[in-house]
Amino acid sequence: MPRVIALDPQRPARSAIAEAAQLLREGGLVAFPTETVYGLGARATSARAVGRVFEVKGRPASHPLILHVEGEDQARALASRWPERASRLAAAFWPGPLTLVLERAAHVSPLVSGGGDSIAVRAPAHAVARALVAALGDAVAAPSANRYQGLSPTTAAHVVSQLGDAMDLVLDGGPCDAGIESTVVDVRGEHPLVLRPGALGMAALRAVAPDVETRVDVAGRQDARPSPGMDRRHYSPRARLLVAPTGEDACRMAYALLSGGGRVGLVFHDAAPPLPEARLIVRCLPADPALYARSFYATLHGLDAAGVEAIVVQQVPPGEAWWAVADRLRRGAAPA
Ligand code: TXA
Ligand code: MG
Repeated sequence: MPRVIALDPQRPARSAIAEAAQLLREGGLVAFPTETVYGLGARATSARAVGRVFEVKGRPASHPLILHVEGEDQARALASRWPERASRLAAAFWPGPLTLVLERAAHVSPLVSGGGDSIAVRAPAHAVARALVAALGDAVAAPSANRYQGLSPTTAAHVVSQLGDAMDLVLDGGPCDAGIESTVVDVRGEHPLVLRPGALGMAALRAVAPDVETRVDVAGRQDARPSPGMDRRHYSPRARLLVAPTGEDACRMAYALLSGGGRVGLVFHDAAPPLPEARLIVRCLPADPALYARSFYATLHGLDAAGVEAIVVQQVPPGEAWWAVADRLRRGAAPA
């Protein structure tokens, strides 16, 4: 077990934050809560620490990390060019679940950007994350604190069960509010371009940037890889994940899988639960997209922990409001 410190998510103890910042300064790895998911943090300027992040996650070196900062001033210093649209988006959504992709400043190590010439940067809203970045006085490079292609963690327990002793410290700030990763927007081009749908919804984004463009296929068709580090397969539970078009289909599929002899998970959002059945574990999630997202990963983590062999999920409704969840379902269910 790594060291875990439980913190008040609104008013984290200063001594714990100071200790965590000192560990980062010394090249250590600290897992911490954000409003989206837990991150595995390293000091962005420490090549050794950043190298350890890739090692611990089992992540290819070509997949860039997100730099966590206090706000626009710190972000500007990491980019070689700061377009006006970046200021507009940062003013509207920072601190919050929006990641901006910009041109990398020459002094920023290409190690954090997967060898490329762009960087991804965001100012998280969670008080623990904010306090940690402020106490370090430097950007914190942090991917989601899970193994490569695995489920993102929304509690400290999820982090510990996936990464174990590999970290120096875990800051436990309770369950994450959004439960799904930040929205990644490339602001280098003429129009802002969504590379990864996420916790910041399209309607909010469009209200501030009406010219925002998307390249990921909202309809759920197979998309080309729009950004480095966006694998076709990603966000996968240990169990096989299957998506069924309707609640009834999901039910039928789950019953058929029970004949394999193992346990099966079934995740609905608006269907009537089926008759109780031994070995069938049923979870009904809220039919609201934001509330669904909040408990989505936790539900999959829970079913994995219950030892199910397969998880059948009722497909979520079409439309932009469900885009982020639909994207995770599609990638989670993609064949290995
Ligand atoms: O909510 C979040 O974004 C969480 C918390 C911890 O902040 N972080 C997170 O990081 O999800 P990670 O590394 O698991 O996913 C970051 C994704 C990459 O997979 C990639 O798609 C995109 O952000 N990304 C990062 N740097 C990029 C870059 N330079 N250019 C394009 N996309 C980039
Ligand atoms: Mg991730």
